[in-house]
Amino acid sequence: MRRFLLLWFVSSSLALQLPFKVPFFQTFRAEEDESLNETPRIAIIGAGAAGSSAAFWISRAQERFGLNVQVDVYERQSYIGGRSTTVYPHGNSSLSPVELGASIYVQSNKNMVRAAEAFNLSTVSFAEEDGTFGVWDGEQVIVQAGGSWWDTLRLVWRYGFMSPRRVNTIVQNMLSQYLTLYSAHTPKWDNVTGLASEFGWIDMIQNTAAQVFESQGVSKQYIYELVEAGTRVNYAQNIDAIHGIEGCVSMAADKASQIKGGNWQVFENFLKHSKATVYLNTAVTGISQASSSSRPWVVTSPKGSIRYKSVILAAPFHQTGITLPSSLSSQIPEQPYVHLHVTLLATTAPHMSTEYLNMVPNTKPPSMLLTTWEGVRRGGKAPEFNSVSYHGKINENEWVVKIFSMEPVSDEWLEKVFDGQVTWVYRKEWDAYPVLPPTTEFPPVKVDTGFYYVNAFEPFISTMETETIAARNVVDLLLNEQYGSSICGSRISGSEGDTKISDDDNFVFGWDC
Ligand SMILES: Cc1cc2nc3c(=O)[nH]c(=O)nc-3n(C[C@H](O)[C@H](O)[C@H](O)COP(=O)(O)OP(=O)(O)OC[C@H]3O[C@@H](n4cnc5c(N)ncnc54)[C@H](O)[C@@H]3O)c2cc1C
Ligand SMILES: *[C@@H]1O[C@H](CO)[C@@H](O)[C@H](O)[C@H]1NC(C)=O
Ligand SMILES: *[C@@H]1O[C@H](CO)[C@@H](O)[C@H](O)[C@H]1NC(C)=O
Ligand SMILES: *[C@@H]1O[C@H](CO)[C@@H](O)[C@H](O)[C@H]1NC(C)=O
Repeated sequence: MRRFLLLWFVSSSLALQLPFKVPFFQTFRAEEDESLNETPRIAIIGAGAAGSSAAFWISRAQERFGLNVQVDVYERQSYIGGRSTTVYPHGNSSLSPVELGASIYVQSNKNMVRAAEAFNLSTVSFAEEDGTFGVWDGEQVIVQAGGSWWDTLRLVWRYGFMSPRRVNTIVQNMLSQYLTLYSAHTPKWDNVTGLASEFGWIDMIQNTAAQVFESQGVSKQYIYELVEAGTRVNYAQNIDAIHGIEGCVSMAADKASQIKGGNWQVFENFLKHSKATVYLNTAVTGISQASSSSRPWVVTSPKGSIRYKSVILAAPFHQTGITLPSSLSSQIPEQPYVHLHVTLLATTAPHMSTEYLNMVPNTKPPSMLLTTWEGVRRGGKAPEFNSVSYHGKINENEWVVKIFSMEPVSDEWLEKVFDGQVTWVYRKEWDAYPVLPPTTEFPPVKVDTGFYYVNAFEPFISTMETETIAARNVVDLLLNEQYGSSICGSRISGSEGDTKISDDDNFVFGWDC
C-alpha cells in the first residue's frame, strides 16, 4: 500500500510539471482494442551488454515512476553475457576463469565502474600486472617496453616525445566529449550520425585513424607501429582501415580493469536487478507485425508467438537469424563483422620461443606481444597472429596465454611457439566486432514505431560500455515515445526539467538522476 501511494504521488507530481503523460493512466488508455487490463509487454532480444542493460534501464523507470510494463528477455545461448564470457583453464572450476571475449573496461566507462560498485563485484586492475610489452612486425620484435628504464629510453629514442603527447591530447579531447554522455545534459539521439555531428566527430568517423593522427602532426612511425598495435589488438583492424574514433578508443586504455571472475557478472546483475523474465536457450526466429495497435509486434520463438507493444533488438541483426518484414530488414544495411580466432592455452613455457621470434637466445620476449602491419607494407611477412599475451599464472610454473588471430592456430604452431610445452588448448571463433571503415552512415536506432535497434551503435563504437549507453538511449526513446515515461525525467521531451543537475563528478546519468 505504501509503495502504491508513493508511486501515485511521484506520477501525479510529474504530471504537473512535465510535458509527458502519467505512466499510470497511460497504461489503461493505450490498451483500446483488446485485453483491457493487460500490462504492456516489451521484448528484448539478446542478453549481452546491450540487452541486459536495456532491461536494467527499464527497471529504473519502473522504480522511479511506477512504469507498468512487463519485460521478456530472449537469449539464444545458455548463458548471459553474449560476447562477454569466461572459461576455466583445463576446464577446472577451481582455477581462475579467463575472459574468452570482452576482457577490459576503462575508468571512463562509468556504467561498468558503477555497476561493479553497486553489485559488489571485485575488480582486477591491469596496472597491478608487471608485464612487458612489445610489437612484432612478422619478422622481428621492433620495440619493447615496460621491462626496464632502458626499454623506455629506447621508446623515446625511436618515437620522440611529441608523437605520444599529441596522440594523448587527441584521445583526451575525445574522452572529455564522450564523458558528457554521463551528464544530466547527455545528448539523446535517434541517429548515430546526429550524435557524431553533435560531438564534432564527423571528421573523425569519415577518415581513417591514420589520417586523423597524421593531420594532428603525429609521426608516421608512431602511428603505423604503436597506434596500429592498439587498433590491431582491440579491433583486429589496421590503422589505415579503421575510422578515427575507434582509433582513439583503442588508445584510451588508461586504468584498464576487469571484473574478478568475469565481466559477464555485470550483465547477470543487470538482469537480476531488473524485473525482467529471462528466457535462456530461446532463439527468436521471427518478428512480424499484427494489426493490433496496442501490441503490434509478434515475436516467435520456441516459446510460441507472443505479442508485444515494443521490441528492443540487442544483437547484431544479421547474426540473429531473425526473419523480419522486409520494410524493416531493408533499412538495416549488411554489416560485416571481423571473424576472430581466440586461442586460450596453458603452458609451462615462461615466454614465447626466442627462436620463433628471431630473438637472441637467453633474452626474454615480452609477456604481451602486439603486432603492426608495417612489415607487410615494406614487403615482408605478415604476422601470424594479432596478439599473444600472457595472462597470469595457474601455478608456480604454468601460465595462461591468450592469442588473437585471423586464422586458426594449429597445434603444431603452438608447439613451435611455446617450445613444446603446451598443457591445454581452447579455441573459440567470434564474429567479434564490426568491420569499422570510415563512414557517416549507420543503421537506424529506431527502425519502426516500437521497434528499436541497440547495435546500430556498434559500427560507431563497439565496446561493452558503449552498448550499455546505446541501450540507455534506446530505452529512453522507447519509454518516451510509447509509455510517456523515461529513465530520468522530462529532458527527453526537449524541455530542461526535473533531472537533478549535479556538478558532482560521480554523477552518472541513469543511475543518479
Ligand atoms: C574476443 C573479443 C574481445 C573483445 N574485447 C573487448 C574488450 O576488451 N572490451 C570491450 O569493452 N569490448 C570488447 N569486445 C567487444 C564487446 O564484446 C562487444 O562490443 C559487446 O560485448 C557487445 O555486446 P552486445 O550485447 O551488443 O552484443 P552480444 O554480446 O553479442 O549479445 C547479443 C546476444 O544476443 C543473442 N542473440 C543473437 N541472436 C539471437 C536470437 N535470434 N534470439 C535470441 N538471442 C539472440 C546472442 O546469443 C548474444 O548473447 C570484444 C569482443 C570480442 C569478441
Ligand atoms: C583443479 O585445480 C586444483 C587447484 O590447482 C587442483 O587442486 C585440482 O587437482 C584440479 N582438478 C583437476 C580435476 O585437475
Ligand atoms: C554490497 O555490500 C554492501 C556493504 O557490504 C551492502 O550494504 C549492500 O547491500 C551490498 N549490495 C549488493 C547489491 O549486494
Ligand atoms: C541523421 O543525422 C544527420 C546529421 O544530423 C542528417 O544529415 C541525416 O539526415 C539524419 N538521418 C536520418 C535517417 O534521420
